[in-house]
Amino acid sequence: MIIDKNKIVTSNFDIPADRIDLGIGQPSTSLLPLAALAQAAEHCFSQDNLYILAYGAEQGNWYFHNALAGFLSEQYKLSVDPDHLFTTTGISQGIDFICSLFTQPGDTVFVENPTYSLALGILADHRLNVVGLPMDEDGLIIGALEEELAHQKPVFVYTVPTFHNPTGCNLSATRREKLVELSREHNFLVLADEVYHLLAYTAAPPSPMAKYTDAATVLSLGSFSKILAPGLRLGWIQTHPDLMKRLTTNGVIYSGGGLNPFTSAIAQSAIELGLQAKQLVHLKEVYLQRKNALNTSLKSNLPDSVSFVEPDGGFFTWLQLPQQVDTEKLLSEAHKHDVSFAPGSLFSPQRDLKNYLRLSFAYYEEAELEEGAKRLAAVIIRNLV
Ligand SMILES: Cc1ncc(COP(=O)(O)O)c(C=O)c1O
Repeated sequence: MIIDKNKIVTSNFDIPADRIDLGIGQPSTSLLPLAALAQAAEHCFSQDNLYILAYGAEQGNWYFHNALAGFLSEQYKLSVDPDHLFTTTGISQGIDFICSLFTQPGDTVFVENPTYSLALGILADHRLNVVGLPMDEDGLIIGALEEELAHQKPVFVYTVPTFHNPTGCNLSATRREKLVELSREHNFLVLADEVYHLLAYTAAPPSPMAKYTDAATVLSLGSFSKILAPGLRLGWIQTHPDLMKRLTTNGVIYSGGGLNPFTSAIAQSAIELGLQAKQLVHLKEVYLQRKNALNTSLKSNLPDSVSFVEPDGGFFTWLQLPQQVDTEKLLSEAHKHDVSFAPGSLFSPQRDLKNYLRLSFAYYEEAELEEGAKRLAAVIIRNLV
């Protein structure tokens, strides 16, 4: 077999050449900072520090955490304590790890409906009973959470509070506070997946859930996947020392040591050299242009019966179609016209939301996004008559 070294081999990329797949929720390869990481690696290797190749400290490398805490404090405009950070191999692994440590098969967890579709797969691996709670433009509806809490207690509530996947909306500051208050009152954990928090383009979101980690119920999960490169498989959990104890005392950490000491040392250099901050500025400029291109084209091509809220950050625009449209069925029609999207039911634990769909503006450049939106609008219009 001849391997094309420039072709990414993952199932996500098996798309016909003419199709514009607005369902792809990842950065385009042109945005992956190879030169910056080569510079960071060179800096890292020149330190002559053999510990980066040894088993890592349980919580992660303190020097990495110190650099990361400095970066996050600046970005969040909050003081982040390096001792409250735990290194993960990304948010996906972080969610899986928390499920392993804090849940038993059959336990109940609450998620937003809709939620990040691939988190549902992780929760299913742990055989959890997943209950979806409704959202509006201000995120998870707290009244609905309170109603559900009167019936059953979850081990945790999983939320994507900022530039939510798939809706793009933010959990309001008041609701964040109320969620934390309820977690203390009812003794459940809050798993805040803050993967898009630093990707704000047109308006700043409320403070991250990391702000509330003085409560021993909150775990704020962050990742380098969307701000540097997903291939690094590097992320962090920011949490209270009481929860940190559980993250660092378990079979996986005892056997393998702290996670990812090698990659985290390179990321430390990327932060210390200012490369991470520079890359973030660059990404925000590019994604702002892409967001504008997609959303402007949607506005001028979609019929009035399709609604959406233009997001202020993140990767996604979420469309609501008239009730009778089933976007799973619309997908095969869209494929015939060389465009694709992620149907709404994928994001729902109860597989409703059939008249919704998610588009991403992260992967394609402006001209393709505009063309993709035109093709999609034409397919939708044909299916409305
Ligand atoms: C909400 C959300 N969480 C987590 C991830 C994956 O994060 P990681 O690459 O750090 O595992 C994604 C990627 O699309 C995402 O959208």
